Formats: sequence, C-alpha cells, structure tokens
Amino acid sequence: MSSRVTAVAHANIALCKYWGKSGPLDTPATPSISLALDSLTTTTHVSRIDGESDEVLINGQVAEGIERERVVRYLDIWRSENYISGHLRIDSENSFPMASGLASSSSAFAALATALNELSEQRISQTMLSQLARRGSGSAARSISGGLSSLSSGDNPASRLLVPAEDVPWGMVVGVVDSDDKKYSSRAGMKLAEQSSPYYRRWVLQARHDYRYMLHALRSWDLVEVGELAESNSNAMHGCMLASRPSLMYWQAGTMDIMHSVVSWREEGLLAYYTVDAGSHVAVLCHLDDLSEVAERMQSINSVVRVIANRAAGPAGLVACR
Ligand code: PMV
Repeated sequence: MSSRVTAVAHANIALCKYWGKSGPLDTPATPSISLALDSLTTTTHVSRIDGESDEVLINGQVAEGIERERVVRYLDIWRSENYISGHLRIDSENSFPMASGLASSSSAFAALATALNELSEQRISQTMLSQLARRGSGSAARSISGGLSSLSSGDNPASRLLVPAEDVPWGMVVGVVDSDDKKYSSRAGMKLAEQSSPYYRRWVLQARHDYRYMLHALRSWDLVEVGELAESNSNAMHGCMLASRPSLMYWQAGTMDIMHSVVSWREEGLLAYYTVDAGSHVAVLCHLDDLSEVAERMQSINSVVRVIANRAAGPAGLVACR
C-alpha cells in the first residue's frame, strides 16, 4: 500500500452548467457538460502522518478556516466510508487563480480523490471515484474523466466521458480579470438561488433542455450551435443568479468587457463564444486553429490581467506513488 501519492487533475469549464444541488449526496439539480482544460491543473501530494489531525497546505500556505474545513470534511467522508483511515497531509498546488470562478475546486477535488483512491484500502471503481469526487465539488466529478464529459442530474451521478481530449477540435481561452475572492461559494450561491431567485425553477427546466440540445449539437461538431447554446446557457444561469436576493453578481466590469468583445469578434467573422462560471473570469470557446488569434485579442482588452490558452485535457491521474 502506498504512503505518499501525487495526483494531477485539470479544471473543467462547463458548456452546460450545473447550478443547484440537493440531498445528503449533493445531487446536481441540472445535468451538465464540460471541457477539461490542459493549462489549468492542480497537483496534489497526499501522505500518511502520525499527527492528531490532518495537515492541509494550499499553494504552499497552511490552509485555515473554511478552506481547511472543506478539505477535512471531505476526508471525513472517505474515512466514514472506511475507504481511508488515519490522518493525512494534503499539499495542493494550482497553476491558476483560485476561488474566483475558474473551477479550481473541480481540479482540486478530482486530484485529491484520485490520490486518496490510491491510498485507499479498498477497490474503488472509476464510477465510484467520480461520485466521490462530486461530494467535494460537483464539477470535480467531470475532471475525473476529462475531455468532454457529462454529469447527469439523477441520483448520485458519476461523470461520463463523451469525447476524449485528443478528439476535441476546440480549445478555450481564459481571460482573467481583476477581482476579489468571490463572496459566495458555489454551494452557498446555489442555496441562495434556490431559496430566493424567482427564476430558479425556470433555470432548472431550461438547463435540462439545453443539455439535450447540446448532446445533439456535439454529435455534428457544430461550433456555431454549440457556442450559441453555451453562451445562452451561461447567461440563463447568471440571470437566475442575478435575480437572487441578495443578488449573486459574480461579474466585474472586466467580465462585461470580455463578453462584449467576444460578440464583436464574431461580427468580424471569428467564431468565439463566452461562458462564465460562478466568478468573474471568462472562458472563450473556439476552434483550435483560432486559439492564438483569440488569445491575442483577449490580451489586448485593458481589463484582462492574464490570458490562459487551453486545449482539451485528459482525465485525472497519478504521477507518483511510493
Ligand atoms: O463544482 P461546484 O459544486 O463548485 O459548482 C460549479 C458550478 C459552476 O462552475 C458554476 C457550473 C459547472 O457546471 O461547473
């Protein structure tokens, strides 16, 4: 049995978003489809320790408060199911900004679950691993399988690989804008939207509809259809969020700058489509051939502080164990 394990996972950005969850297993209220991104990675080292409690380091800093609690609570799920025992040291590094709507929890919990699986005393199937990753962060389930993956909204779902990374002809350019850490975590935001947004039920219906159309559009690799759907799905989710009380306004001025720019690039003939998670940064879907053109245009927007170009990424995996 290994005593020190390193795993890597890629963050994913959804083309059809999940927003809303319920029940003890955090069942997603809406089905989703996402693309895993090769430049957005989390590398997590996990080792057994003799101490009285878990040690959690994130980007080289000892994690405290809610950040630490979230990881320890997640380890407790694995311990309560007897998949692991004893205390652990978790040391996790991200290649990109955290807690600002760049899906850092998707890669973080997928990498952690992958490492824990290797340390586990039991055999865990890929399905179960994806289900367990989902308990840390809903989107993490999709980073287990990578590429273009879906996650249904049924009971205790696992992700399903729709298209492996090497067969995806599209990429995403992420525009990072100036922003503080987000005020509402996805979990808190989902609860608030469900309890207070007049559009929440409508969003859930729309999201289910978008999901079916997206599966259809993906079969013919129609970027116009997929892109338009991804954009309107993102807008519908933010419409629901914005109408919550208090309003879940994740967008910053820079977010709007990028969205308007993408629309104007399209008018000039460049096929590019934006999508925004629960945060202020923007991911732009385009053909792989247009990736550098989109990255260059993104760089020229004043409010953009960093540009990250991505191809599709593969599944989460182990890089070392001993
Ligand atoms: O993975 P969570 O539970 O933090 O929620 C992610 C929600 C969105 O990123 C907004 C949408 C999605 O499907 O990834």
